[in-house]
Formats: sequence, C-alpha cells, structure tokens
Amino acid sequence: MKITLTVDADNRIGTADKKLYGGFVEHLGRNVYGGVYDPTDPTADEEGLRTDVLDAIRDLDTPITRYHGGCFSSSWVWKDGVGKNRPVRLDPYWKQLEPNTFGLDEFMKWARKANTEPLLTVNLGLGTVSDAAQLIEYCNFPSGTTLSDARRANAAQEPYHIRWVCLGNEQYGIWEYGHAPAAVYAQKARECVKIIRALDPEIKFILCGSAEEMQWNREVLEICYDYVDYLSLHFGFCTPFGDAEYFGLLDKYAKVTEETAALCEEIRRSKKSAKPIGIAVDEWIIWDSDLTPRPGEKWTCGMHLLEQDYVLRDVLLVGGLFSLFHNHADKIKLACVAQSVNVISPLRTDKNGVLWKQGTFHPFYYASHYGRGDALRVEGGADALAVSAVRNEAEEELTLFLTNFGHSPLETLVQLRNFVPKNILEAVSLTTADETRSNTADQTVLAPNPIGGVLCNFEGKIPVVLPARSWNCIRIKLGKQGND
Ligand code: AHR
Repeated sequence: MKITLTVDADNRIGTADKKLYGGFVEHLGRNVYGGVYDPTDPTADEEGLRTDVLDAIRDLDTPITRYHGGCFSSSWVWKDGVGKNRPVRLDPYWKQLEPNTFGLDEFMKWARKANTEPLLTVNLGLGTVSDAAQLIEYCNFPSGTTLSDARRANAAQEPYHIRWVCLGNEQYGIWEYGHAPAAVYAQKARECVKIIRALDPEIKFILCGSAEEMQWNREVLEICYDYVDYLSLHFGFCTPFGDAEYFGLLDKYAKVTEETAALCEEIRRSKKSAKPIGIAVDEWIIWDSDLTPRPGEKWTCGMHLLEQDYVLRDVLLVGGLFSLFHNHADKIKLACVAQSVNVISPLRTDKNGVLWKQGTFHPFYYASHYGRGDALRVEGGADALAVSAVRNEAEEELTLFLTNFGHSPLETLVQLRNFVPKNILEAVSLTTADETRSNTADQTVLAPNPIGGVLCNFEGKIPVVLPARSWNCIRIKLGKQGND
C-alpha cells in the first residue's frame, strides 16, 4: 500500500511536554526491593541504590517519577518509612512484607541521582488529610517544626521542594482501599489542597479522574475545579486481548482524552475560571494482571509480581501510545509509565548486576529524547498506522514517529511543508519475524536497527518503506527558515 503523510511546520497541536516521559516507583514486587534498591547487589552504591538501574533510568531520561504508589499508597503510612526504628508491616494491597528500609528519604536520594523530579501520591484512601499535610510539611518546610527538623535530622538540611502531588490513587475503584463516592473523595481532596496550599502555594495538584467513568470526572471536577491543576486518567492495556481489541484501546483512550478535555473546558466555562486543567496520564499500564506470586513468596519482600515479558506487539503499542500523547499534546501534559523497573516495566533486573532492556524501552527512549517540543499535526495516513511529529526548535530537529500495526509494508512518502530540511540524522526501525520472542538477560531480539538509504530531497520529500509490524523513528535536521 502507498500512502502520503504531510507535516506542515505551521500546523501545530501544542507543546509535547517533557513530563510526558515520566516514571513510577511503587512499593510493588521488585520495583523497589531488588530494583531501584538492593544493598546486597554488587552494583549498589553507598546508599544501597543499584547503579545499573540508575544508569538505565538516566539513559531513558524520565524527568518526573511518581512515588509511592499506586494502590500501595492508599493504605501506606509514610511515617513508617522515615527515621530510625522503622516498623516491618504487611502491605495488604499487594500482600507483601514491607520492611520500610526504603522510604521517602531514600526515594528522594534516588530521585536526585536519577535526574528525576518526585511526584508524590498522598494517601487519600485510608489516610487522613492531616497525614498528607504532614508529609508535605516534612518535605517542604525549611525548619523549626518537629516534622521539618525530623527531615533535617534524618536526611536533608534543605527542603525537598516537592512541586507535584497526586491526590490519592484510583479512588473511584472498588478495589482501592478507602474507595468512596465521587463527592466524598472530592471533598477530602479539596480539604487536602487547602491545607497543603497554606503550607506551600507553589504545589501543583493532580485530582483522581477515571478513564472509564465520565460521571465520576464531572462530579469531582464540580467540587475541585478551582483547587487543582490536572485530572488524572489511567490508561490500561490488557495484553491477553487479541490484536484488534488491544490496539483498539489506543482509539478508545484518544476518545476518552477528547471527552475529558471537553468536560474540563465545559466546567471551566461554567465556573468562569481562567485556569485550564490539563490531563495527567499518571499511569499507563501494559499488563496481564495475573498476580499469582511464585510458590513460597506470598507475604515476603521483593516478590516477583507482574514481571511481564514484552513482545513485538507491546513495542508497537508503546509506539502508538507516544504518538497518541503527541497528537493530544495540547491536552495531555504528563504521563508516567507504570512502572519504572521490573514490574510491568521496560527495564528488568536480576541479582548480581544483571539488567536488560525490554523491547518497549526503545520507543520510549526515542520519544523521551526526541519527542519534546512542538507537536505538529500529520495529515494523511492509513488505518493500521499511528504517526506523530515533534519539532525541537532549539536543536533544529524534526522527529517522526511511525508505527505500522499492519501485516503488510507501507510504502510511505513523507512530505514536509514550510521547513528547511537539511539531512536525515537517523532513521531506525524495530521489528522481528518471530513475534513470540522477548528480550531476556541473555538475548536481545527486540532492538532498533538503522533503515538504510532514507533521504530527504530539496522539496522536503522523504520516501520510506515501513516494514510490516514495525515501530520506526526518523530524525531530520532542519535549517532556519529564511536561511540557506
Ligand atoms: O501499576 C500497577 C497498579 O495498577 C497500580 O498500583 C494501580 O494504581 C494500577 O491499577
């Protein structure tokens, strides 16, 4: 099949924010214990942080990272994880043992080393508004109170300057501890914002929204619109689904994004507010939610939970998802992979410094590095193609992200308009003949390879064949408009 795609420099969607490439560290399985933190591993630094994981996270470049959960956060007691004499607890959600040897202060040290900014989820499930406010006082108040002085004694003289707070997690769901009707949750969230804003007016708040229930979104926004900055949506992709349903979820979430943004705008107008509310996909999850622990692991620390091996179609899904983010860059302002290490993650570890990148790492890596700047609308396409374009003005680069979900190659002509294209910086493609295979510690089968012979002519035409079932990225060097 032959198609033409047109990218016009003047056809801008919005800013593809760097926060679209966020991570997520939840106390779940081996995300923390055995993942980011393992004092027994030969790669561990003086603080017990795995340096191989730190290197990989810095390489991926996730500028913001959500912590402590997830569902874990709704029954978690943050004070258990600071100071000396930390209690060993049971985590009732994931049925793990929580030794609390890694807590808030350890995460802050990790985040600094990983070049990522913390996005703290406060416990608005079984926790109280006062607990949440005290957490922020501990983190952000300079000194002179019992909590701020405890931070200084425990770990950090200077405040952490937390700037991003999630107001609980999935409180709309019956599975979540502290689940409540929308109005009850929203009133608690609003009180939480009032008290935390009194402590620190700079913090941005993310309210729990639902990708499944627009009525929930309406009710919580009615109560909290003036208090919050973002509404969260979780995008879940269920891997046992057949292809049509699996990739169809991308269309579903594109529609949910449009509907949610329209709802936010409707409520903004009704409240005569000048402030827009953005969408924060603070979890995107690719999973088969089988949580059966390995024999003998139940109620232990560092259980092997949700350690999913990703295959080619998951790579394609991630490629399509980042194009969805770019194509809604005016609406979606933040997104976090769920999760950063081991647990349904692009990165996996084993003991003794073993780390490998899953196939899903690569579309994430390219989007994170080259998908920041002006998201531009791409005209044209095909049913089985997801495509997006991002221009980085500072670097004078345009990057195209193209995912061919179909089983036939696509003969594609990219036509650039109102650009001064100079040359192709890089063109890569990721595909494989055997779709059942995943990367392992010993074997890499899913990795990008250069596409040979991709050229851009002086009219801005780039012919390229997108292989069947492939994710592709093309980077173009631009000249300045009006210059030679
Ligand atoms: O990412 C795993 C879990 O999925 C999170 O704890 C929860 O918020 C979501 O449902």
